[in-house]
Amino acid sequence: MAKILKKERLSENTVKMVLEAPLIAEKRKAGQFVVLRINEQGERIPLTIANADKDAGTITIIFMEVGKTTSLLGTLKEGDNIMDLAGPLGNPTHIEKLGTVVCVGGGVGIAPMYPITEAMKKAGNRVITIIGAKNKDSLIMEEEMKSVSDEFLICTDDGSYGTKGFVTQVLEDVIKRGEKIDVVVAIGPVVMMKAVSKVTRPHNIKTIVSLNSIMVDATGMCGGCRVSIGGVSKFACVEGPEFDGHEVDFDELMTRQSAYGKQEHESMQCFLRDKK
Ligand SMILES: Cc1cc2nc3c(=O)[nH]c(=O)nc-3n(C[C@H](O)[C@H](O)[C@H](O)COP(=O)(O)OP(=O)(O)OC[C@H]3O[C@@H](n4cnc5c(N)ncnc54)[C@H](O)[C@@H]3O)c2cc1C
Ligand code: FES
Repeated sequence: MAKILKKERLSENTVKMVLEAPLIAEKRKAGQFVVLRINEQGERIPLTIANADKDAGTITIIFMEVGKTTSLLGTLKEGDNIMDLAGPLGNPTHIEKLGTVVCVGGGVGIAPMYPITEAMKKAGNRVITIIGAKNKDSLIMEEEMKSVSDEFLICTDDGSYGTKGFVTQVLEDVIKRGEKIDVVVAIGPVVMMKAVSKVTRPHNIKTIVSLNSIMVDATGMCGGCRVSIGGVSKFACVEGPEFDGHEVDFDELMTRQSAYGKQEHESMQCFLRDKK
């Protein structure tokens, strides 16, 4: 059981929650996630630990309301409880002083990017951050990301804020400046992580992506999160969620992600009908 201590709406469909979870707060490292279940009948969903406060015994999750479970989670209020909360899960991000690190966050992917950016900065790296969203209103965590970056770049698809265009265009401009980049870390929609990996490949820049494959048990038992990395099957929950972007079969991942599209749509329709 985890109590919701604070709830804040960051954009029309993005919600931030601070949860009481002292044991997870104590142990978690950048890049790790929790799996939660709202009620007895609920499905289990993975969400990244966006922040944690050891002293207060709390963790922060930031999620986008995309389907039934995340929408239901968004209806909970401060003081309500989440029935199950398991974590920290997954391998932490490998953090060390590498030199110049470019952190690229897209949409709600900015939330999981934050603890990694913070840890990379703390480790002594020069951090160039690029964040992007559809428009100004859907951009989240600007101040937090800026506070842990040496150079901070923003773009929006419609040009309503920052540079007009995708994070990949801004990344290409940074690469073209000719400065040595030691690693790029990218988190966002699969199509964005695929595009970032395509940009960095010809320049031989190591690229780390965090895969949001469908997860069920998150213990390596069900096989739901299977991804192909360099032609080898891996389980994102226990062997990831981070992998070398140049090795990921992104097309297979996208096909697997949409495998339950019909059921997800039906589930959302039932949720909306019951809400009336
Ligand atoms: C390690 C990891 C960390 C994540 N961190 C975040 C985060 O910090 N913030 C955030 O907004 N989202 C995050 N996600 C994605 C989040 O888990 C899904 O958005 C959520 O499960 C969707 O559930 P739903 O019932 O609301 O939507 P659905 O209608 O069920 O699905 C909508 C989309 O979510 C995907 N999805 C459905 N079920 C799962 C599942 N059990 N596991 C993963 N994806 C699923 C589907 O492929 C579909 O594309 C993360 C995913 C992973 C694997
Ligand atoms: S979620 Fe079941 S094996 Fe990874």
